[in-house]
Amino acid sequence: MSAGSIIDARDVDYTLDVAGRPLHILRKVSLSVAPAEVVAIVGPSGSGKTSLLMLLAGLEKATDGQVVVNGRDLSDMNEDNLARFRRHTLGIVFQSFHLIPSLSALDNVGLALEIAEPGLSMAQVREKAAAALAAVGLEGRLDHRPSALSGGEQQRVGLARASVANPPLLLADEPTGNLDQKTGAIVVDLMFDLARKNNTAVVLITHDPALAAKADRVFTMTQGQLTETTVPKPATASASSARKAPARKPAARKPAAKKPVSK
Ligand SMILES: Nc1ncnc2c1ncn2[C@@H]1O[C@H](COP(=O)(O)OP(=O)(O)OP(=O)(O)O)[C@@H](O)[C@H]1O
Ligand SMILES: [Mg+2]
Repeated sequence: MSAGSIIDARDVDYTLDVAGRPLHILRKVSLSVAPAEVVAIVGPSGSGKTSLLMLLAGLEKATDGQVVVNGRDLSDMNEDNLARFRRHTLGIVFQSFHLIPSLSALDNVGLALEIAEPGLSMAQVREKAAAALAAVGLEGRLDHRPSALSGGEQQRVGLARASVANPPLLLADEPTGNLDQKTGAIVVDLMFDLARKNNTAVVLITHDPALAAKADRVFTMTQGQLTETTVPKPATASASSARKAPARKPAARKPAAKKPVSK
């Protein structure tokens, strides 16, 4: 296991019992993500991408192998500890936004912050929620309810909600699936910029290879097996200076190569 990874999944199997027969959804999946590293996972429908994200979020348990996130072995944790782990470690961005329709943008973000950090005063919650919304360009939409926001704006609220407590890891499952291509690209750029600014690691699931190519590394899921398929970027001065040394921990950038991570 590599020391200091935000994600260290080793030889993970995920098998469901369907009508008395085993259904192998993930087979010997290994994935190591450094703090502040941005990775994308692509792959056909039904290949197991969401299943892997569920295991990384501790929402499902691996059948075999080890899932360590932020130094915690998720297989050892009970539901209470998993809930606490999720509050402090993860921000999750969903395809279908999942905003609370009756709450303003500010209160949607504020509520997530109150849950993650119950000790904050109302004024602190409002201030931090407003700052998170400003960071995604929505300072002019604080009082709008989701129904009064465009799809891209709703997803930016989703992003503000996922990042307001400054978690070390963002998990995003097709966050652009309900957006047109241009709006989707804006949201992903924003997500990656925000993550790079805050030294947040990201696992982005997407069907769009152009969006995946913006990540530091790309993996492809095929029938439950994960392979690294990063296409090396041309080395330019701006690419090498794009990522400043993160304050949280140094993000060891792996050499970009096409190499299998599972057998
Ligand atoms: N609870 C379940 N019971 C039976 N099969 C399941 C269950 N959950 C997932 N599967 C199956 O596991 C496989 C992987 O599903 P998963 O949702 O992880 O795929 P995906 O790669 O995210 O697909 P998509 O791109 O369509 O979202 C699919 O064949 C799916 O039908
Ligand atoms: Mg899926």
